[in-house]
Amino acid sequence: MKKTIEEHADRFSEIAGEYDDSQNSDEYRACVSLVVEHADPSADDTVLDLGTGTGAIALTLAPRAKRVVGRDISEGMMGEARAKAEEDGLNNVEFGNGRFREPNVEDEVDIVVSNFAMHHLSDEEKREAIKVVAGLGPRKFVLGDVMFFGTPDPDEPFYSPEVDDPSTVGHLADVLTDNGFSLTAVKRVHEQVGVLVAERSGEQ
Ligand SMILES: C[S@@+](CC[C@H](N)C(=O)[O-])C[C@H]1O[C@@H](n2cnc3c(N)ncnc32)[C@H](O)[C@@H]1O
Repeated sequence: MKKTIEEHADRFSEIAGEYDDSQNSDEYRACVSLVVEHADPSADDTVLDLGTGTGAIALTLAPRAKRVVGRDISEGMMGEARAKAEEDGLNNVEFGNGRFREPNVEDEVDIVVSNFAMHHLSDEEKREAIKVVAGLGPRKFVLGDVMFFGTPDPDEPFYSPEVDDPSTVGHLADVLTDNGFSLTAVKRVHEQVGVLVAERSGEQ
């Protein structure tokens, strides 16, 4: 991680009010749609959204799920998410402090999702985080993020080398399969953006 948790939290809290309006790239929108489509919760499912931010994924999934738990390190971002949940009359979604490697979740979780957030962690920290996700016992983990399908071009706009630390698709695939998941879909949105759908292998 190129910044501390506190630095990332402060950085996002400062921009929380403008965050939704700033997320207007085709690639970000495509990722949101793919994560929502592949999460596909039923009315019995509890969904955990890690790095939930202002709740783009959590609030979209809430009407279809039993319960959605959003976790983030930025109170400012979650304040926006809570306000939108109230405005939309959603009472089955809850936002609270938690991080990838310490999600602070008591509930049984059926599906874990994360969009445009895990790239703040280093390769090794992502390995630790995915182990924690697997330990929660979900049947599915849908990860949308900045990830490298080829050799990254540092001039591309999808990450800032001073704050972001995206992994290769190969690293993420290795870590997911090492932790008992099978990749059931790999969606390339851009050479630096994609969605991985990881499901529990049959023998788990
Ligand atoms: C680019 S925003 C994405 C928010 C949302 N998932 C979306 O799709 O719009 C990244 C979010 O990840 C959160 N974040 C960064 N590092 C984190 C960590 N270690 N654990 C949990 N959340 C983290 C930030 O606070 C921020 O809200």
